[in-house]
Amino acid sequence: MYEKIAKFYDRLGWSQFPLKLWDQMENYFKQENFHPSNHLDIACGTGVLSIKAVTEGLLSEGLDFSIDMLEFARENAKSKNVDINFYHEDMRNFNLNKKYDLITCTYDAINHLLTIDEWKQTFTQVKNHLNNNGMFIFDCNTQKALKERWNSIQINKDSKGNYMIQKAIHYEDKGISTASFTVFFKEENGLFDSFEDTFTEIAFSSTEVINLLREVGFEEISITDTNFNRIDHPDEEYRNVYICK
Ligand SMILES: C[S@@+](CC[C@H](N)C(=O)[O-])C[C@H]1O[C@@H](n2cnc3c(N)ncnc32)[C@H](O)[C@@H]1O
Repeated sequence: MYEKIAKFYDRLGWSQFPLKLWDQMENYFKQENFHPSNHLDIACGTGVLSIKAVTEGLLSEGLDFSIDMLEFARENAKSKNVDINFYHEDMRNFNLNKKYDLITCTYDAINHLLTIDEWKQTFTQVKNHLNNNGMFIFDCNTQKALKERWNSIQINKDSKGNYMIQKAIHYEDKGISTASFTVFFKEENGLFDSFEDTFTEIAFSSTEVINLLREVGFEEISITDTNFNRIDHPDEEYRNVYICK
C-alpha cells in the first residue's frame, strides 16, 4: 500500500490537507493556551506536518509503514533544510521509548485500519507515548462519508491536464468502502506518467470511537469539524476531528 502513489502524493496536492488542518490546530492551541514543545505524526505520509511543526519551532518526528512515503518525507525535509527522524513503523504496534506533548494522525489515515481492534491498538500506543496533559488529534471519515462519498465514479481533469478517475464502492454489510484511483499525470515533456492503486477504508460511529478512546485512558474527548468548531451531531458530518486528552 502507498508504494505507487508516493511519487504523486504531493503533486496531486493531497498534502495540502494536513497543512490546512495544522493552521486551524494552531488557532485552537492558542485558544486553549496549549504550547506543545514536541510532536509525533503517526502515518505521516510525505512528512509535511512534521516539517511544518519544526518550522513553527517544535521538535517533531514522524512514522509511517510505507517505505516509499518515508522516502519522500526524507526528501521533503532535506529540501527544506530540516532534520527530522522519520521512523519506519506500524502505528498499531510502535514503541519509540519516548513521550510527546502532541501526537497527530491526519487525512483519514486511521480509517485504513480495517478492524476496531486495530484502532484500539493504535490508540493504546498513542496514549503510551503521550506526556501528561498531552493531546492526540486525529481526523477520520465518518460512516456517512464512506456511504455517500466513497460510493461513486468521478472523473476529474485539472487545469494542468492531469486526470484522476476514482471508482468507489461501499459494502454496507462490512461498513467498508474500496476506492480505486487511476491517475494520469502530465509531465513537463507532455507525456503522461500514471498509476493505479486501490484503498479500503472503514468507519465506526462516534459512540464506538469515543468508547474506545475512553477504554484506553483518554478522559476528555471532543469532536469538531476541520476548523476545530465543536459539532453536535458528528455522525451526520463527513469528516470528524477528535481532540483527545
Ligand atoms: C492518506 S495518507 C495520509 C498521510 C499524511 N498523514 C497526510 O495527512 O498527508 C495515509 C498514510 O497512512 C499510512 N499508513 C496506513 N496504515 C498504516 C499503519 N498501520 N502504520 C503506519 N502508517 C500507516 C500510509 O502509508 C499513508 O502514508
